[in-house]
Amino acid sequence: MKVLVATEKPFAKVAVDGIRKEVEAAGYELVLLEKYTEKQQLLDAVKGIDAMIVRSDIIDKEVLQAADQLKIVVRAGAGYDNIDLEAATAKGVCVMNTPGQNSNAVAELVFGLMIMAVRNFYDGKSGTELKGKKLGIHAFGNVGRNVARIAKGVGMDIYAYDAYCTKEAIEAEGVKAVDSAEELYKECNIVSLHIPATAETRNSINYDLVNLMPKGGLLINTARKEVINEADLIRLMTDRPDFKYVTDIMPAHHEEFADHFPGRYFSTPKKMGAQTAEANINAGIAAACQIVGFLRDGNERFRVNK
Ligand code: 3PG
Repeated sequence: MKVLVATEKPFAKVAVDGIRKEVEAAGYELVLLEKYTEKQQLLDAVKGIDAMIVRSDIIDKEVLQAADQLKIVVRAGAGYDNIDLEAATAKGVCVMNTPGQNSNAVAELVFGLMIMAVRNFYDGKSGTELKGKKLGIHAFGNVGRNVARIAKGVGMDIYAYDAYCTKEAIEAEGVKAVDSAEELYKECNIVSLHIPATAETRNSINYDLVNLMPKGGLLINTARKEVINEADLIRLMTDRPDFKYVTDIMPAHHEEFADHFPGRYFSTPKKMGAQTAEANINAGIAAACQIVGFLRDGNERFRVNK
C-alpha cells in the first residue's frame, strides 16, 4: 500500500518523520509531494496511490479521477471544503478530517492577530487592552472553545453564538450564549470567526451584520475567506473609519484592502493558523493513524462523506 503526503504548504519535518513511522510500522510505503507548484505534479503523484494525506490542497474531480487506486483521503486539519465530497463518494473514496488536532494553534494565532490590531500594528500610537473587552466567538467548535479558554486568562468578557450548539453547552464553558449572530455582533467589540465554508455560510458575513458592531469594532478571520462578503466589507470599512479587519486567509481583494485601509487591515501572506510543529505533528500523525485504521481494520471514525 502506498500513502501519499501531498502538501503545497508542508508540515514541519518532525511531523513528516512521525507520519513515516506510523505508515512504515503498518508495512506501507510513504510517498512525499511537498511544495508543489503545478496541479499536474499532483495529478502525476496520485497515480497508484492507495491513501492520501492533504492540508488545504484542492482535491477536485480531476485529481480524484487521476487517483486510480485511491481508497481514502484524510484532510490533516478541520475544514474539508477543499475536497469534492460528491466526487469522492461517487468514486467510493472515503474522506476524513482530523477534528481538534490543530485547534489550539489556530486559537493562539487569533490572539496574536488581536493584540497586533488593538496595539495599532505597533505603529507607536496608543492602543487599547483586551482585558474587560467583549469578545464574540462566532461558532463554538474546537477552535472557538480554545479561543474562549485563552480569553478567560486575558480577562475578556466572552460571548458566543453557534447555530449548531445549544446555549447550555456554551454556558457550561463559562461563556455567555446569545440567540443570534446579530446579537453577537451588536454586543461585542471584537468578533472572531470560526464558521466553516459551506453553502450556507458563504458570503454570510455581510455589511448589515458587521455594521451592528460598536464603534472601534475589530473582526478577526482565521476561518475561511469565502465566508466574508468582500465587497460588503470594503464598503463597510470605507463608511466606518473606526473599523479594523485582520485575517489569516488572504482575501481575493487583498490589494484593495491593503491600499484603502492602511493601519486598519492585515493579512498573513499564507494561512499560518495551523502552521506550528505541534499542530503539524498532531494532525499529521492522527491522519496517518486514521489511514492505517481504515485500510487495516475498516475503521471509519471521522469519515465526512457518509
Ligand atoms: C484547518 O481547516 O484545519 C485549518 O484551516 C488549517 O489549514 P492548513 O492545514 O491548510 O494550514
